[in-house]
Amino acid sequence: MKKRIFSGVQPSGNLHLGNYLGAIKNWVKLQNEYESIFCVVDLHAITVPQDPEKLRKKIIEVAKIYLAAGIDPQKSTIFIQSHVPEHAELAWILNTVAKMGEMERMTQFKDKSQKEGRESASVGLFDYPVLMAADILLYDTQVVPVGQDQLQHIELTRTLARRFNKSFGDTFIIPEYFIKEEGKLIMGLDDPSKKMSKSAKSEYNYIALSDDEETIRKKIKKAMTDSGSEIVYRDDKPALKNLINIYSLLTDRSTGNIEKMYAGKGYADFKSDLADVVIAFLRPFQEKMAKISDEEVLDILKKGADKVRPIASKKLSEVKDKIGFII
Ligand code: TYM
Repeated sequence: MKKRIFSGVQPSGNLHLGNYLGAIKNWVKLQNEYESIFCVVDLHAITVPQDPEKLRKKIIEVAKIYLAAGIDPQKSTIFIQSHVPEHAELAWILNTVAKMGEMERMTQFKDKSQKEGRESASVGLFDYPVLMAADILLYDTQVVPVGQDQLQHIELTRTLARRFNKSFGDTFIIPEYFIKEEGKLIMGLDDPSKKMSKSAKSEYNYIALSDDEETIRKKIKKAMTDSGSEIVYRDDKPALKNLINIYSLLTDRSTGNIEKMYAGKGYADFKSDLADVVIAFLRPFQEKMAKISDEEVLDILKKGADKVRPIASKKLSEVKDKIGFII
């Protein structure tokens, strides 16, 4: 029996190189070894306000990104979270297992709620990690491949699963995370002390997977660099380290090799080549995306939901029975 992995991306904002290099790129490899379920997490996206028409488009776009990146619907299941209502139902039950104190320690909520002010953040945003735990636990997921920023949420998932099992008997598998050292945290181009983020204020923070050539060149040219002029991969040069990392992950060249290639050259040469590398990756990616029709992707998503719903429904019934509901 293959082990099962589950992961997801929110259909909000512009998906960027961080999402690809930190998560989706790894899924493409892992789908050959694991039984794989990849979700478009629309229930998570509405924890901040979304325009309904844009959201509908984004959901389809994220699924197309999965496919264009190489997720193969013959090997993996992809579906839309809200098509399987068991996610929301299990989240409600897990809400009664999660404690206020541990939820208040979630750093992503702290970061995200800071923007608009805690008082006006939605309760959904606060509760978001519990919904993520439900996503994972519903499918007896063994491994969750994500970027570094999701680690705390997976720790919480493990805690909730253990607590539930302790109170009601063995029900949930305690999931492991899969975080690949390379790419686990791609930093913002405009600020290498913060992660590249879909919700960043400035579009110069990220390279969107949908950016055109001109935009990519402009953004990389403008990307922050460190003092000095050498192309070196070092912790005291975080901006450069991040750019070399992106170069390395997109070309499969080692960072040491890249340092050697640019010995004696300056930032301008390096940045111009990095723009070429990003364009060489994104152009075929975008061409693939453009070839996938909405109908095709909706059909895949519907079949995906039909496939996973019985797994989710069985698990939820088990949970309801254990907690004393009449099923
Ligand atoms: P989301 O949509 O913010 O991000 C999707 C994936 O991209 C990774 N990621 C990054 N990796 C490296 N560098 C970055 N700068 C960067 N930014 C984002 C994230 O770690 C993530 O893997 N809560 C999740 C979605 C989710 C989920 C789940 C994931 C909902 N349910 C169940 C796994 C399992 C989120 O908001 O990801």
